[in-house]
Amino acid sequence: ARRMGTEADIERAARILNEGGIVAFPTETVYGLGASIAHPEAVARIFEAKERPFFDPLIVHLGSVGSLDRVARIPERSKEAFDSLTQAFWPGPLTLLLPKRDGVPDLVTSGLPTVGVRVPAHSLARRLLSIVHAPVCAPSANRFGRLSPTLADHVARDLGTRVDFILDGGPCEVGVESTIVTLAEDEPKILRPGGVSREDIERVLGKSIEVRADSSEQIQAPGQLASHYAPRTPLRILRPGESSQARGRIGLLAWSKPRTGYEACEVLSTAGDLREAATRLFAALHTLDRMGLDLIEVEPVPERGLGLAIMNRLRKASHG
Ligand code: TXA
Ligand code: MG
Repeated sequence: ARRMGTEADIERAARILNEGGIVAFPTETVYGLGASIAHPEAVARIFEAKERPFFDPLIVHLGSVGSLDRVARIPERSKEAFDSLTQAFWPGPLTLLLPKRDGVPDLVTSGLPTVGVRVPAHSLARRLLSIVHAPVCAPSANRFGRLSPTLADHVARDLGTRVDFILDGGPCEVGVESTIVTLAEDEPKILRPGGVSREDIERVLGKSIEVRADSSEQIQAPGQLASHYAPRTPLRILRPGESSQARGRIGLLAWSKPRTGYEACEVLSTAGDLREAATRLFAALHTLDRMGLDLIEVEPVPERGLGLAIMNRLRKASHG
C-alpha cells in the first residue's frame, strides 16, 4: 500500500503546480491530474500524459466559491440556481458550466465560451487548492477513454512516470465523477450524471431538470462519447435476470449478490446500497480488468440516485 499524503507532501505538490508541473491529487469523486491554469504549458502536458484530444475541455477546481470570479461569470438568469446549488452541494461532486472569463486559457476550455468549475470536498484537495496560487484544472487521472482512478495506485499503474507527483489521499469516497450541470443556458440541464443525484438537484431547484447526457445530437462533453470509462477487457451488460451464455474465462460485476459459475465475481454492494456501489465501481472494474479475462459481464443496477451515474459509466464502458 502507498503512504497517505502528509502536510509536507501537500506542500511539495503545491510547489510543483506553482512551478508549472503536473500532479495527480485525490478528490472525493476520482483522482484528478492537475495543472495550474497560470501555466498553459503544464495544461498542455495534461493532454499529452492522458493522450487526450484537445477538443475535450478540463474542469477548473477552486479552493472556495470566493475565487469563482477569477474564472467565470454568473449569468443574471442563473443567479438563483447558482446560489441554491452551490449552497447545497459545494464543496462536493457538482460541476457547473458558466461563461468563462478571459483569464482562463483557451486550452483549458477547448476554445468554448464556457468553463466547468467545482469546489472539491476532499480534505487534501482543499488544502492543496488553498495554497496553490491559481485555480487548478484537472481531468480524471487516467489515459483517455479508460477506467477512472479511485486509488493512488490506479494512477501509478496507468500514468506512472508521466506525472511529476502523485498525492495519495486514500480511496475516493464518492467513486464516480462529479455531476455536470450547465448554467449557461436558459434552464439548468444535467450534461453528465455523477456524484450528486438528479433527485437531490431537483429537490434543491424545486423543479425537474433535463438530463442530456446520452443525447447524440450534440456532443458537449466527451464524457458523452459513446466509448469511455472502459476497461481493456470487453464488457457486456446483462439484461435484468439474464444469466451468462458466454464461453471462456468470464468475470462478473454483480449488483448485490455473488454468483457462482464465474472465474471471478466482484459485488458492488451486498446491502444493495447505490452509494456504496458507486464508491466501489471503478476499483471493482480495475480488479476484474487485471485478471486477463475474456469478458466482464455486468448486472444492471437500479437507475435512481447514484444508479443513474453508475449505469451511464457502464454503458459507455460496454461500447468498445
Ligand atoms: O469529478 C470530476 O469531475 C473529476 C475530478 C477530478 O474533479 N474530473 C473529471 O474530469 O471527471 P474529466 O476531464 O475526466 O471529465 C470532465 C468532463 C469532460 O467530459 C469534459 O468534456 C466536460 O467535463 N467539460 C469540461 N468543461 C466543459 C465545458 N466548458 N463544456 C462542456 N463540457 C465540459
Ligand atoms: Mg475522465
